[in-house]
Amino acid sequence: MPTTRRYLMCAPTYFEVAYSINPWMDPTKPVDHDLVLAQWQKLHDTYAELGHKVETIEPQPGLPDMVFAANSATVIDGRVLGARFRAAERAPEADHYRRWFNENGYHNVVMPTCINEAEGDFAWTGRYLLAGTGFRTDPGAHAEAQEVLGVPVVSLHLVDPRYYHLDTALFVLNEDEPNVAYYPEAFSEGSQRVLRRLFPQAVIATAEDAETFGLNAVSDGRNVILPTESTSLAAQLATRGYEPIFVDISELKKSGGGPKCCTMEIRG
Ligand code: ARG
Repeated sequence: MPTTRRYLMCAPTYFEVAYSINPWMDPTKPVDHDLVLAQWQKLHDTYAELGHKVETIEPQPGLPDMVFAANSATVIDGRVLGARFRAAERAPEADHYRRWFNENGYHNVVMPTCINEAEGDFAWTGRYLLAGTGFRTDPGAHAEAQEVLGVPVVSLHLVDPRYYHLDTALFVLNEDEPNVAYYPEAFSEGSQRVLRRLFPQAVIATAEDAETFGLNAVSDGRNVILPTESTSLAAQLATRGYEPIFVDISELKKSGGGPKCCTMEIRG
């Protein structure tokens, strides 16, 4: 069953690929600015049409990756754990988001001491927090998240630099009966065994699904927003009773981002 969600997004007003901190980013390749604005607006409007509440934060000049709202906080049961970015270029984003929470009634935002790229590497299943490490978020941030958020954390190791954040390799389909979709090869052997043990019914994505950023999807328990090219993953989801909804992310992908990266979920 779909449940109504609350999301925080940031328009790509200042979006560009000005530096390279993941294998998808090539600063010599042009970005179509009007197109990225239209793609973002379409994603925003799709959530609104599904009945979700979408909040926005003011974009800041000089922070081209601020559009990737998912990286700036993890919110569960109204507790907010902020972010600490690995790349100096993104570091100032964390404080803008902290301020947004403070101004919107969240007065106990905890800022992490370890490198922590928030929902980029944290996925809430409804029972535990899946936590990625290997490229961005420090393993120490997993313990910190468990303590601050008061939820059990399961650490997972990412091994493929193209899938540098957990949310490029896995997403949560359903929280009632926790289930996920993921691309096994993005994870270490041991983490693959953990995922098989936790989610015997998981949707297993192909290399093509992963390359098209199909795992950077957003599910409300029924509707799954995913990139236009992720057709085989969409077909698998449809056979499981989910409703795939396609969005074009060509410009965002030039920065290594997709629908989920642009979408922070505020829980409680
Ligand atoms: N250019 C950004 C970076 O490399 C993209 C972040 C995408 N966000 C995400 N949640 N995966 O940091």
